[in-house]
Amino acid sequence: MAQPQTKRAVHKKIASKRVLLLYSGGLDTSCMVRWLQEKYSADVITLTLDLGQGGLEEARAKALKLGAKSAHVVDARTEFVEQYVAKAIKANGLYQDQYPLSTAIARPLMAKVAVEYALKEGVDAIAHGCTGKGNDQVRFEISIGALAPDLEVLAPVREWNMSREEEIHYAERHGIPIPVDIHSPYSTDENLWGRSIECGVLEKPDSEPPAEIFEYAIPPEQAPNQPEYVELEFENGLPTSLNGRAENLVQLIAELHKIAGRNGVGIIDMVEDRVVGLKSREIYECPAAVVLLAAHRDLERFCCTIHENEFKPLVDRMWAELAYKGLWNDPLMADLEAFTDKINERVSGWVRVKLYKGHAQVVGRRSENGLYDLNLATYERQQTFDQSASPGFIKIWGLPTRSANQLQTKYEALGNKR
Ligand code: ARG
Repeated sequence: MAQPQTKRAVHKKIASKRVLLLYSGGLDTSCMVRWLQEKYSADVITLTLDLGQGGLEEARAKALKLGAKSAHVVDARTEFVEQYVAKAIKANGLYQDQYPLSTAIARPLMAKVAVEYALKEGVDAIAHGCTGKGNDQVRFEISIGALAPDLEVLAPVREWNMSREEEIHYAERHGIPIPVDIHSPYSTDENLWGRSIECGVLEKPDSEPPAEIFEYAIPPEQAPNQPEYVELEFENGLPTSLNGRAENLVQLIAELHKIAGRNGVGIIDMVEDRVVGLKSREIYECPAAVVLLAAHRDLERFCCTIHENEFKPLVDRMWAELAYKGLWNDPLMADLEAFTDKINERVSGWVRVKLYKGHAQVVGRRSENGLYDLNLATYERQQTFDQSASPGFIKIWGLPTRSANQLQTKYEALGNKR
C-alpha cells in the first residue's frame, strides 16, 4: 500500500539531513543515533549536557562509536545553577507543593543549548529522546519552538513504536552497547538539583518504593541517631556559604547533597498531575533542594511583611506551574521573576537547619533585614507594643463579622432560616 502523501513528504524532506540529537548515552538515545541514520539517512551530531549527572566521556565515546559525525559535551553546570536553580530557589519552586522541579528546569536549558549548537552546526532538525506521554517532550518542543521556530523537531520514540524488548533486539542487531542496568525496571533522570525515578514497581501508587532505588538519600530509618546541623548564609535570596565556608552554588549544592542525603533527607513520593492529563507516581530524591528551599522560605518570611508573605506564594505557585508545564519562555515567567528578584533583594541572613532521620527543620534564623522585633514580641517588661490600642483595633477589625452575626440572630428570632 502506498504511504500517505504527508508521511512520504516528511521522510523525503528529512532524507539526508543533518540532525542534532540530545543524547544522554542511555539505550533510547543510543538506538536513536542508528535509527536516524537508517530511517532518514541523517548525519547525526550528538549533544550531551553536563548538569552534574556524570558519565559524560563514556557518552561521547559511545556516540562516536555509533557513527555520530561529531559528539559535543557541554559543561552547563554553572549556567544551570545560576540561571535556573537560582530562580527556583528565589521562587521557592515546588510543583504541587512537593516536587522541586529538578528535571523540569533542566529542559529549557537543554533546549537553549541545543538551539545554539543546531544553528552553529547548520542542522535541519533537533531530535530528543522523550516519549509521547510525558512532560519533557512538551518542555523541549515549546522551548525550541520559542527560540528557533523554523527548526524541525524529531521525537523518534513517538514514531518508532518499539517495545522495550524490541528495542533491546534492535540494539543487539546494531552493535549498540547494552547498558549494564538494562534489566533495571526504573527510568531515571538526574542532575545536580535532584534525581527522578519512575516505572517498575513504582507505577503502583500503593506500594512503598524499595530502598534500592535511592542513590543520594539513605532510608531515614538507617540514618544516624544523632541530628546533624547545617548553617547557611543567604545573600539576595541565594545561599553563599555552608557551615561557615563560602562556596559557589555548584559546590554548595553538591556538599549539601551529601550531608542531607546521609541523614535521609530529600525523598519525595508523590502522585503528580502531568501536563498531558494523566497522573503518574514519581519518586524524587532531592536532598539539597529540600534543605535549601526550607531555609530560603523561612528566611524570606522573616524579612517580608505579612502582606508580602500572603502574596508571594501566589507568585511562586504560578512560577512553578509555568516551569513544570514547559512555559519557561513565556513572558509571564520573566514578569514573575522581576517580582521575585525584587522581593529577594532583602532575603539575606543566616539560617540553621536540623537534619534528623529524613526531616529538615529550620531551628534558627537571623537577618539584618528581619522584621521580627523582640521588643514588640516579648512578654517581658521592656516590651513596646501598645496593648491599650488593641481593644479599638479588635472592635473595628471584627465589625463585619459582628454585623453579619447580629443580622443572622435577628432572622432566626423571627423564625426564618437562611
Ligand atoms: N515527572 C517529572 C517531570 O516531569 C520527572 C520526569 C523524569 N523523567 C525520567 N525519565 N525519569 O519533571
